[in-house]
Amino acid sequence: MPASKRLKPALQPQTASTKWVLRSFVLLFLVGLGTYLDRIKHRWYIFDPAAINALARAAIAASPNDTSGMIQHILTNLTRTHPSTLVRINPDSNEWMFNNAGGAMGALYIIHASLTEYLFIFGTPLGTEGHSGVLPADDYFNILVGEHLERYTPGMVHYLPRGTPKQYKMHEGCWAMEYARGWIPLMVPFGLADGLTSTLDLPTLYKTGKITLREMGKNLLVGKI
Ligand SMILES: *[C@@H]1O[C@H](CO)[C@@H](O)[C@H](O)[C@H]1NC(C)=O
Ligand SMILES: *[C@@H]1O[C@H](CO)[C@@H](O)[C@H](O)[C@H]1NC(C)=O
Repeated sequence: MPASKRLKPALQPQTASTKWVLRSFVLLFLVGLGTYLDRIKHRWYIFDPAAINALARAAIAASPNDTSGMIQHILTNLTRTHPSTLVRINPDSNEWMFNNAGGAMGALYIIHASLTEYLFIFGTPLGTEGHSGVLPADDYFNILVGEHLERYTPGMVHYLPRGTPKQYKMHEGCWAMEYARGWIPLMVPFGLADGLTSTLDLPTLYKTGKITLREMGKNLLVGKI
């Protein structure tokens, strides 16, 4: 036994209880901080669910039956209405990756990702079905093309409140613009679980992680939390 260990005094009952009192204070502090941040998180939101839905409808009207035309419309509008000094919008609409979560699979393009918001295009030419996840964020799923069940058609928005699980299905050729607000990093475990325990598609996980961190980082650099 090393000398230092032998010489270490035995823990007195008093020091042990001091330690637990300290730990309880730290825990209380963290819970308080979490509750406070949760109450003020709206201060960091820059997108608005109604405006996002108006934009989805305008994109559908501007480019009927043309998903990439709709996406271009959305990007042009967002880059015009949100200065790059305040928020980072990913302009590369060729940056698609697979996404597996809750048993559903589709293609994903990250338009915006920060600590409190994300905006994705998500869809599938083949159709898919799965579990929505019990998300720690409010989720607004704006249908651009196709059908989402129960029956949601282009221009409609499927609102999934924080903490509500659902089964969902996207029919063949369904594409949507998904806007979420809340604590985005807490959604990561749901986003990674299928990849780590089922698909083992490591290149996709790597690409998703890399792009998400890059976008969040660029947003933090311009002060967008
Ligand atoms: C962006 O889209 C919204 C909703 O369609 C519209 O009201 C607004 O005028 C558009 N802004 C620009 C700069 O295109
Ligand atoms: C869009 O597709 C639908 C169904 O395929 C068709 O009836 C409609 O004419 C198309 N609209 C345009 C503007 O191409």
